[in-house]
Amino acid sequence: MVDLSVTVGGVRMKNPVMPASGSIAEGMADVVDLGRLGAIVLKTITPDLRQGVKPPRVVEYTDATLFSIGIPSKGPDYLLNHTVPFFDKFGPPVIASISADTVEDFGKLAGYITDPRIAAIEANISCPNLRAHGRAFGMDPVASAQVITAMKANTTLPIWAKLTPNVGDIAEMARCVEGAGADAVITANAILGMAIDAETMTPRLGNVVGGLTGPAVKPVILRMVNQCAEAVKIPVIGCGGIATGEDVVEYMLAGASAVQIGTTNFVHTSAMEQSIDWVADYCTRKGIARVSDLTGALMLPGDQPSEQRGAVAL
Ligand SMILES: Cc1cc2nc3c(=O)[nH]c(=O)nc-3n(C[C@H](O)[C@H](O)[C@H](O)COP(=O)(O)O)c2cc1C
Repeated sequence: MVDLSVTVGGVRMKNPVMPASGSIAEGMADVVDLGRLGAIVLKTITPDLRQGVKPPRVVEYTDATLFSIGIPSKGPDYLLNHTVPFFDKFGPPVIASISADTVEDFGKLAGYITDPRIAAIEANISCPNLRAHGRAFGMDPVASAQVITAMKANTTLPIWAKLTPNVGDIAEMARCVEGAGADAVITANAILGMAIDAETMTPRLGNVVGGLTGPAVKPVILRMVNQCAEAVKIPVIGCGGIATGEDVVEYMLAGASAVQIGTTNFVHTSAMEQSIDWVADYCTRKGIARVSDLTGALMLPGDQPSEQRGAVAL
């Protein structure tokens, strides 16, 4: 019997597979056995009520999705009074996700939603910092660290810092949030992209720019997970392009302690459950007693220093 349990950033999970923030809503309970998941990650909320950005919000590609939703939010009271009670009853730890316009508001919101039914809070720092002319917090190592410091000062819950991949040196960002006290990093949010309709000569997204997700981004994010895992001691959660159990294993070999599945949930609602089963079978086949033994077990050529993976001659 394979031990699929992992402990990630202060949260014990019965297996390493969870949904990425924004990829499940209450209706998912009709088609997925949510009780089987390692954790249940909720959609990001903001302190204020938000409608999200104007449509169109999604552009589909063969193996990827470009989207810009804009974090529609019903706010923290709805989260505590409706969303958390709904998902709490399934059993797995519930992970909240927050975003805000300022460092102070990140801190206040973390404090406000601190609740025994929430196991950890994700800091979604891929959002504009109003005090930096709208540049994302996650693109600035100082602002990223300030967000984590403010959250840690206001809550006793573990904080998972969700990095943006839209930076030059993801390992540096991971080190900065680790230094500020983050209990885990999630690598990563969506890759910035743009789509244009040649006929109408207009952008395909209402917000012009969006985030690219889905299987096509896997090689990029896998490389980033490997760099982060070698840069920090806190656990790394892989997120980006994961669609199958084989992908889960690849991310763990690269250094992830657990993974999140996003876009694939919209296409194959059984992907998370099938991935858990596939990983268990893989471990049995390979004689691996604990899934946690996969973390960082990638066999690399001995002559390549890890820092070279940030700048390779192409
Ligand atoms: C429709 C949609 C909504 C999303 N909403 C959020 C969100 O609220 N908060 C967040 O941190 N990430 C959000 N994301 C990003 C995902 O959590 C994940 O980081 C990204 O999609 C990469 O994983 P994937 O390739 O498995 O989809 C969203 C992604 C999609 C496609």
